[in-house]
Amino acid sequence: MTIEIQRVGVVGCGLMGSGIAEVCARAGLQVLVREIDEAACESGRGRIVGSLDRGVASGKLSEEERDEAVDRLSFTVDLAEFADRQLVVEAIAEDEGLKTEVFATLDRVVEDRDAILASNTSSIPVMKLGIATDRPAQVLGVHFFNPVPVLKLVELVPSLMTSDETTARADRFATEVLNKRVIRSTDRAGFVVNALLIPYLLSAIRMLESGFATAEDIDTGMVEGCSHPMGPLRLTDLIGLDTTLAVADSLYQEFKEPLYAPPPLLSRMVEAGLLGRKSARGFYEYRPR
Ligand SMILES: NC(=O)c1ccc[n+]([C@@H]2O[C@H](COP(=O)([O-])OP(=O)(O)OC[C@H]3O[C@@H](n4cnc5c(N)ncnc54)[C@H](O)[C@@H]3O)[C@@H](O)[C@H]2O)c1
Repeated sequence: MTIEIQRVGVVGCGLMGSGIAEVCARAGLQVLVREIDEAACESGRGRIVGSLDRGVASGKLSEEERDEAVDRLSFTVDLAEFADRQLVVEAIAEDEGLKTEVFATLDRVVEDRDAILASNTSSIPVMKLGIATDRPAQVLGVHFFNPVPVLKLVELVPSLMTSDETTARADRFATEVLNKRVIRSTDRAGFVVNALLIPYLLSAIRMLESGFATAEDIDTGMVEGCSHPMGPLRLTDLIGLDTTLAVADSLYQEFKEPLYAPPPLLSRMVEAGLLGRKSARGFYEYRPR
């Protein structure tokens, strides 16, 4: 396949945006990243370079490949610079108001009417992002998994308004350019994976909250008893408690099932700023990154 998409934009360079920018740069694409201010651009860049350095240290990447990937990355605080992008992946916080604002702006600034405007949202209906633009046929969910350079899965989520051509192009891009494994989901909160995963994580938090078992024993139970690579509380720390709460809220709003309702302990921890690995403390403590 000729790589039709060469210029990619990534909005947000936190946990997910940095991983998405990294895999695109490693795939040979020019990547422009937008963050909210210079400090956030710097820490996003640091996160990507740190991950590339770990790739070199573990022998997955040569120093030359790392340096070439870094050269393909640039950063801005101004979305107007996305005018020439052929694909944009939005990966800002899981907040419907903020995301619709970004899509409305992208609609104004991205000049190519065939450009794909994708969201990495875990749970917000893609339709709401599509109708924030005048081009809902080009808007879809492209949901990566954390850590993006390691996990192969991508969920593709067309809305009712997404064109088949947009979905097919995004599928080819994820599969052939990024070497990902694609599954498709209907535009329902949580898509396939989070609709299954989030109730499991919330159950573990309820178990801890009720004094049923310790965090260590809950996690050890699932690691040693079910061969999961990590237990549910450590996984919640990795995902981010704020993101987990936001996804649970969207699922509960959509389906009104009690199993999706966030337990009070999760809400209190987020209010306290205990967000997991990214804040160095969640259900466990971590060294600051
Ligand atoms: N954490 C996960 O495991 C995971 C997995 C799959 C998908 N997601 C989804 O990916 C998205 C991002 O999650 P995350 O975990 O990377 O969050 P995060 O908090 O690590 O990063 C969000 C970043 O977005 C930036 N940001 C906020 N508003 C912005 C704007 N208007 N323009 C540019 N940047 C902006 C913030 O400064 C921050 O750096 C969410 O929609 C989340 O649901 C997360």
